[in-house]
Formats: sequence, structure tokens, C-alpha cells
Amino acid sequence: MKATKRHKNRKGAFICFCVLCAFLWLSLAHAQNSYQAALTIRLDQPGAVINRNIYGHFAEHLGRLVYEGLWVGEDSPIPNTRGLRNDVVVALKELHVPVLRWPGGCFADEYHWRDGIGPRDKRPRRPNASWGGVDTNAFGTHEFLDLCEMLGADAYINGNVGSGSPQEMMEWIEYMTSDAGTDLANLRRKNGRDKPWKIPYFAVGNETWGCGGNMRPEFYADVYRQYATFIKNHSDNKIQKLAVGGYDENYNWTEVLMSQAAKYMDGLSLHYYTLPTGNWQKKGSATEFGENEWHATLVRTLRMDEYIRKHSAIMDKYDPQKRVGLLVDEWGTWYDSDPGRDMGALYQQNTLRDALVAGINLNIFNKHADRVRMANIAQMVNVLQAMVLTAKEKMLLTPTYHVFRMYRVHQGATMIPVELNAPEYKLNEASAPSLHASASRDSAGRLHLSVVNLDPNRSSDITVTIAGGAIRSVTGEVLTASAMNAMNTFEASNAVKVAPFSGYKLSGSRLTLNVPSKSVVVLELK
Ligand code: AHR
Repeated sequence: MKATKRHKNRKGAFICFCVLCAFLWLSLAHAQNSYQAALTIRLDQPGAVINRNIYGHFAEHLGRLVYEGLWVGEDSPIPNTRGLRNDVVVALKELHVPVLRWPGGCFADEYHWRDGIGPRDKRPRRPNASWGGVDTNAFGTHEFLDLCEMLGADAYINGNVGSGSPQEMMEWIEYMTSDAGTDLANLRRKNGRDKPWKIPYFAVGNETWGCGGNMRPEFYADVYRQYATFIKNHSDNKIQKLAVGGYDENYNWTEVLMSQAAKYMDGLSLHYYTLPTGNWQKKGSATEFGENEWHATLVRTLRMDEYIRKHSAIMDKYDPQKRVGLLVDEWGTWYDSDPGRDMGALYQQNTLRDALVAGINLNIFNKHADRVRMANIAQMVNVLQAMVLTAKEKMLLTPTYHVFRMYRVHQGATMIPVELNAPEYKLNEASAPSLHASASRDSAGRLHLSVVNLDPNRSSDITVTIAGGAIRSVTGEVLTASAMNAMNTFEASNAVKVAPFSGYKLSGSRLTLNVPSKSVVVLELK
């Protein structure tokens, strides 16, 4: 009996020893595959309201964006409502799209609005001189504004400066917004729309330093002043007038526009695209990349913060009250076109890397909510960093789509500053923070925290402190995948998907998070 008992004790001790070893081994493995960080949410220092338009979109007549991506026509076998495809509209509605920019882009400066009204079979077919192919003009003013109404989005229209005139611009605005008994308002009625539309945002051209006319800033400042004079408010429509701003480090453009035309504008744009290489001749692949390209892309996208800070500082000199908004109305990744595809179409796949780019940029815009009043990712469907990709009747949601869906909670909330203490993520002598975050508090008092872990190899153990508040509950979602270049395809459309986030511990006032490597997490703290 005694021998059996001793044997049992030994066996028990051995099991305990094994469990302890396993525990130590797991702890060591975890320590090697994770890094420590501290994050403070400054609830005691609320900032500006995050304009919901920061979550805006952009749809240009380019590639398969408008035709196929949005518009299939009333006779299409693809289910549609008045010609707009139902699957895409349903998906986009989930994003709470606040504002939609149209018709370009470069295309805006060659677009003549009269081509796109009236019976569709009578509309002229025109070359799309910017991006190739023929535009049937089946999608024009009425179809665009119908789409905005379906999505519940405000319309942002880019007028034609490059090949148009102040008169053409002025008449387009009257056609859309006048409730009077004028010929143009009556023409709109004859074309099927009785009530005028609201057009809250109208821009004088696009990239007038490039495809919109290759102008010098001094020249455009005068052109802007002239055109802006003829942007009139009809009935009770109130238009915010927007001027073309600079790109990247083109600070002189901002300086000239602000010094010479600030008082005539409500907003000034900024364009910045993220290229893995920074080289427009060889931008890099959308899907075939390793950690070098992953890191380089994230380092480059983080430059958005510097550009916003520096352009804002110039705006502050001329507009210290921050009346004029900075509108990042084109941003996102731009890769080499997929091999075998039409170069002009700018179709590209979208991976987990794009999801992180989206999360980082949206965090940056949230942070600068005092000056950044709108941002429009380029572009909505089938072009550049798209939300949705289509292949005829098929449709898929990209990783970027999921980030926009997760981040929609920040729309209209108050920006809450966050302080981060995390190691740098270094590679090839370049450095990026390994964590990136933003927070906001909505009108119901809920706190929203979004965290991006840039490190593709290590999860992050984060100790969260809430300065000036306390929480009792945490819920959240996480977007990640096993590979950096994981993507959704028409064959496997759910490879990158959102999952509930369970990597938190809340005991009393102590909150700790374990955020997976290469992930985007959005939490609601109450
Ligand atoms: O988004 C694609 C193009 O990029 C736009 O037409 C133009 O404004 C920019 O150069």
C-alpha cells in the first residue's frame, strides 16, 4: 500500500513539474514573441470633434469603378436599383459613407456635365482622355446624386477648370440646386428630378498643378478667385467652396493659396499617396512582398502626419482661427498595376498591409481633427485602395473595407488624445513606431480606442491607463491574418475577416491588452 502511495506522490510531483515547465516555456515563448507598451487615454484633455467627413470616399470615372463597380444599368442581369448595383450599395451602406467625391480626379477637368443628363440613349459617347476607353455618360449628375441619396452621403463635386469655364460651372450648380422657375431648374425637372438637390461641397478643379492644367500657384490663386465668385447659393443650398491644394511636401502651393485666396475658400485640399518604394516608375507589388516592403510602406504612410502638420502650420499663419479646413481628398496606397491588367484602370488587390495603412491614416486624421475636416480615400470600388472589388456579378470586401467599418464609431465623436510608450519597429535602418492609436468619445459617452500593431512578428502587451475617467466594460473587434499579404479573393472571400477581440483583462481599474502582431483592433470602453 505504502509503495503505491509513494509511487502516486512521485507521479503527482512529476506532473506538477511538467506543468510548471510548460508554463515557463510558454511564458518565455510569449515574452520573445511580444513586446511591452503603455498607452494613456487622456480623457481629461478632450480635443476637437472628428468631422465625419474624414471617413469620406472618392469615385472617379476610371477603370471599372463607375461602370461595373457602381453602375450596371437598369437592364443588367446583376440585381440593381435604377441601374446601381444592389450588392455594392448594400455593402457601402454599412460604412456610413458621409461624403462622396465625384467625378474626379483628373477626369473632372475634362468632364462636361451636360453630356451626362437627359435620356441615356441620347447621351454622347466621349473618350476618357485621362484614363482611356469610352465613357458612355450613362452615369451622370442624376445617377451620382441618386447614389448619394441611397448611401445617405453628402455630395462633393469637383468642377471643371482645366477645360471648362466659370459659366459652365455656374450653370451646373444652378441646374442641381435651384428651386426657381428658371430654364435650367425646369430642365432638371424635365429630366425627372423635381426637388433641387443639396450640394454642400464644390471644388474649383483638381490637381491644377498637374493634370488639371499645369498651373503655377500664383496663377491658380487668381483662377480660383475668379471661379469661386461664380459659385452661387440657390434656394436654401449652402455651398462650401474648396480650392485645390498641394501634395506631399509642396508647401509653397499652400503658402501661395493661403496668402492670396484664403478668404474666398472654405477648404484647401492635400493629396498624398503611399507607394512602397516612393518611386512612381516602380511603385511595388500589391500582393507580392516581404517584410522589407511591409516596413517601407508603413514608414511611408506615416509621413501623412508630417505633411498634415506642416501644411497646417502654414494655414495657421493666415487662418489662426482654423476657419478653412484641410481636406485630404485623395489618399491611400498606389501599387504597380496587377500584371496582365490594363495599366490605365488602376485596379489593385488589397491585403492586410492595406488594412494597416488605412488604420494608421485614420488615426492620423482623427488626431488632427482640429484642421482636417474631410478625407477621401482613393478610391471606392475597383481602383487603388478600394473598399470593394468586383468581377462582373461577383463582389468581395477588402481588408480596407473592414477597417472603415470598424472605425466608423469615430465619426462625429470628440477626439481624445492618446500617449503611447512603445518600442520602435526598426528595419534596414528605418524606424516606425510599433504601435499607432487614436481614441474618441461619442455623444453617448462611450470611449472608442483604435490600435494598430505594425510589428508583423510580435504581439503587444499594452497596459492602458485612462486619465480622468474609469471604465467597467470592454468589447471590441480585431482584424488580422496569418500572412502579411493575406487578401480576400473571389475564390476565398473571407480569408481576412473581423473577429471578436478577447485579448483583454480588466480587473478593477487595471486594463491590459494583448494585441496580435500585424493587426488592427477597435475597442469600445464603457
Ligand atoms: O486617384 C487617381 C488620380 O490620382 C486622380 O485622378 C488624380 O487626381 C491623382 O493624381
